[in-house]
Amino acid sequence: MVKFIVEWDETMWNTGKFVLTTEQMNIVCYAWIATALMVFVTMQYVTAPYGRHTSTKWGPSVNNKAAWFIKELNTFFVMLYYMVVGSKTFKSYVWILFAFWVIHYFYRTFIYVPMCRSTEKKMPFVIVLMSIFFNQVNAYINGFYLSEMADPADFGKEWLQSKLFLTGLVVFLTGAFINFKTDLTLIHLRKVGETDYKIPRGFLFELVVSPNFLGEIIEWFGFYLMARRNVAALCFAVWTFANLTPRAKNHSDWYKINFKNFPKRKIIIPFIY
Ligand SMILES: NC(=O)c1ccc[n+]([C@@H]2O[C@H](COP(=O)([O-])OP(=O)(O)OC[C@H]3O[C@@H](n4cnc5c(N)ncnc54)[C@H](OP(=O)(O)O)[C@@H]3O)[C@@H](O)[C@H]2O)c1
Repeated sequence: MVKFIVEWDETMWNTGKFVLTTEQMNIVCYAWIATALMVFVTMQYVTAPYGRHTSTKWGPSVNNKAAWFIKELNTFFVMLYYMVVGSKTFKSYVWILFAFWVIHYFYRTFIYVPMCRSTEKKMPFVIVLMSIFFNQVNAYINGFYLSEMADPADFGKEWLQSKLFLTGLVVFLTGAFINFKTDLTLIHLRKVGETDYKIPRGFLFELVVSPNFLGEIIEWFGFYLMARRNVAALCFAVWTFANLTPRAKNHSDWYKINFKNFPKRKIIIPFIY
């Protein structure tokens, strides 16, 4: 680790630029993936206190919608920044990958969050800070990798016609569709002004408790395939899985406690878990 930091410092000192070798990038990303796995294990015992699980035990809180808006806006801007100022973004078709991120986060920030019929719920400030940190690191790693490190020769016309890209595209769009459709179903369970929870029905809700999370995980796994299975994209796919699988389990337990007639459904993976 000391060797890594010294070499990194020397490289930046000599070039005057924030640069990483492929080896250094790998070390950063695998450390970040290991962190995600630790978070995954921790979240088997700790329920993330937002949405229906919000709690006053985590210190001062802020308005839920404002918190969501700020943390998603951050990611949107980081990716937009790297897309626009990145030195290699437009030297190949890598901008297409940026476009997927930016569209996803544009939707999440400016359409999804305002649409949510959330109550006057609050989110602990510490959770907002942790989410911003997690979102920022993932966006920086992916933005930096795509705009500064990825070789433009790897993202030409051949890549767009490759089986890996096309498979990833189908997986990504399928996940995005599932996430979009099921999030909308959840939002529309409440009429404007209502605050209670209802049992979601239809489509993938008949198979799993949290198909919106399943969709999000599929989406970013598809992105990883599209992006030539690079280590930065792997980070975000693993973080999404580590965040959302325990949350789906928490939701499932919560429904069973709060709805005596809650139908038998798997948690997040149809027929399996
Ligand atoms: N990439 C990542 O790591 C990551 C991390 C977190 C979230 N996300 C994505 O962000 C989106 C939102 O996440 P979330 O954790 O807030 O999802 P969620 O807990 O399923 O809630 C989604 C929205 O639907 C409402 N809702 C959910 N179940 C309901 C029910 N039974 N009756 C009435 N209303 C209901 C919630 O209201 P309340 O707020 O009042 O509960 C909230 O407004 C998802 O698409 C998720 O995939 C991604």
